[in-house]
Amino acid sequence: MAKVFICKVDDLEKGEMRKFETEVGELLAFNRNGEYFVTDDMCTHATASLSEGDYFDDTVSCPKHWGEFNIMTGEATAAPCKKPLRTYRVMVEESDVYIDSELEAVDAIN
Ligand code: FES
Repeated sequence: MAKVFICKVDDLEKGEMRKFETEVGELLAFNRNGEYFVTDDMCTHATASLSEGDYFDDTVSCPKHWGEFNIMTGEATAAPCKKPLRTYRVMVEESDVYIDSELEAVDAIN
């Protein structure tokens, strides 16, 4: 396991997303009703930071061409995005949010 610190739980309000610089690069963290999710920040369609897009419920939309991804599975849910967004297995320990940088969230579910 490669445990990587992302942020403090208090860094994100419910319904908020924010980009964090981590030891494995820029990642995007979400607080979805008190549950935390982490994905890559870079859109899989072209070059755009998803942190500059919109986040609502379980979807993040890209600011460049308005493609969309499911933040829990990484599935591309709106054109022109086709390639999934990488998601990470999240661990909350006391007041800190970590990921396992070697394990995708979908792998953790299966
Ligand atoms: S760069 Fe994100 S949809 Fe095109």
